[in-house]
Amino acid sequence: MYALITVLAALLLVLILRHLKRRRVCLDVKRLDGKTALITDGISGIGKETAIALAKRGARVIIASQDEEKGESALRQIKRESVSMNVKLVYLNMANLQCIRNFCKEFLQNEKRLDILINNAGVPALLDWTENGFSLCFGVNHLGTFLLTNLLLDMLKSCSPSRVVTVTSDVYKYQKLDFAELNYNIVPLFTYCRSKLANIYFTHELANQMERHGVTACAVHPGYVVGDWISQFSILFRIVMYVISSMFFISSQEGAQSVIHCAVSDDILKHNGGYFSDCRPCKLRSYAQDSGIAKKLWEASEIMVNLSSSNKKNIKASVQ
Ligand SMILES: NC(=O)c1ccc[n+]([C@@H]2O[C@H](COP(=O)([O-])OP(=O)(O)OC[C@H]3O[C@@H](n4cnc5c(N)ncnc54)[C@H](OP(=O)(O)O)[C@@H]3O)[C@@H](O)[C@H]2O)c1
Repeated sequence: MYALITVLAALLLVLILRHLKRRRVCLDVKRLDGKTALITDGISGIGKETAIALAKRGARVIIASQDEEKGESALRQIKRESVSMNVKLVYLNMANLQCIRNFCKEFLQNEKRLDILINNAGVPALLDWTENGFSLCFGVNHLGTFLLTNLLLDMLKSCSPSRVVTVTSDVYKYQKLDFAELNYNIVPLFTYCRSKLANIYFTHELANQMERHGVTACAVHPGYVVGDWISQFSILFRIVMYVISSMFFISSQEGAQSVIHCAVSDDILKHNGGYFSDCRPCKLRSYAQDSGIAKKLWEASEIMVNLSSSNKKNIKASVQ
C-alpha cells in the first residue's frame, strides 16, 4: 500500500514539474523573406535555435561567434535543419571593443540591410575581466551589446520598420545598479544580475530614442534553460545544476520561443521598450522602468565605450 502511494506521489510530482516547466510556443509563422537578421552568439543554445527558426522563415541569418571551429559545425547544423543556404558565420568577440568596431565596419561594408538585431551573446555569472578592463559580465552582456547596437543603428533606421531584441533575464530583480560601481566584480551572481538589469535599461532608452525612427526595441527573458553555460563551472556545481535543471529547466528550443516571438511578431510594436517572457509582455519592477536611470546608464556607457557625441553624428566614421 505504502509503495503504491509513494509511486502515485512521485508520478504526481513529475506531472506538476512538467506542468511548471511547460512554456508557450511562438505561433507566429510570418515569413521573413528579404529580411536580414544578425544574432550575436548564434552558434549554441537559444541563439542557435533562434537562427534555425528565422532561417526557416526565409530570412538571411548572420550568426556571430568568437569560436570559429564550433561556429562552422553550428553553421552546418543550422543550414541543414532550416533547409536554407542563406546563413553566414562571422567572427565576433563581444569582450573586445575593437573587435566589435571591426565587426561592425565589415558588416556595414558587406551587408545591404539589417532588419532584426538579436543581442543574445551573454556570459554567465563569472568573475573575470574583459580585454578593455571591464567586469566580464558588464563588459560583454551590457557594454558589448551597447556598442554593437549603436554602431549598427543607422542601418537599422534605414531598414525600418526594424527591431532590436535583447536577451535579458528575470534575475535582474535581485540587484540594483550602483553608478559609483558600474564595474562591480565581487559576487559572481550579482555581477550577472546587474548586467541583465543594464540590458533592460538599455532597451528602455533605446526605444525612447528610436521611437520616431521606426526601430522597435524589446528585452526578453527566455526562461531558465539548460545550456553550455553550465560547462564553465566546477564539477560539483555542474552535478548540482544537472539535478536542478533536469527538474525545472527547459530546453534551448523552448527557451528560444520568446526570442523568436519578439523577432517576428507584430505584438512587440504595441510594447516598444517592453519586457517579454513566455511569448507575452510582462511587468517589470518599478525601479527597472525608471527613465532617468536608463538615460544615465546610456550616457555612462557612451563614455565607457568611447562613443563620443561627434562620433554619434557619423557612426560610420566611428567604426573606422
Ligand atoms: N540559459 C539560461 O538559463 C538563461 C536564462 C536567462 C537569460 N539567458 C541569456 O540568454 C542568452 C543566451 O544564453 P544561452 O544559455 O543560450 O547561452 P549558452 O548556450 O550558455 O552559450 C553562451 C555562449 O556565449 C558565448 N560567448 C561567451 N563569451 C563571449 C564573447 N566574449 N563573445 C562572443 N560570444 C561569447 C559562448 O561562446 P564560447 O562557447 O566560445 O565561450 C557561448 O557560445 C544569454 O544572454 C544569457 O544571459 C540565459
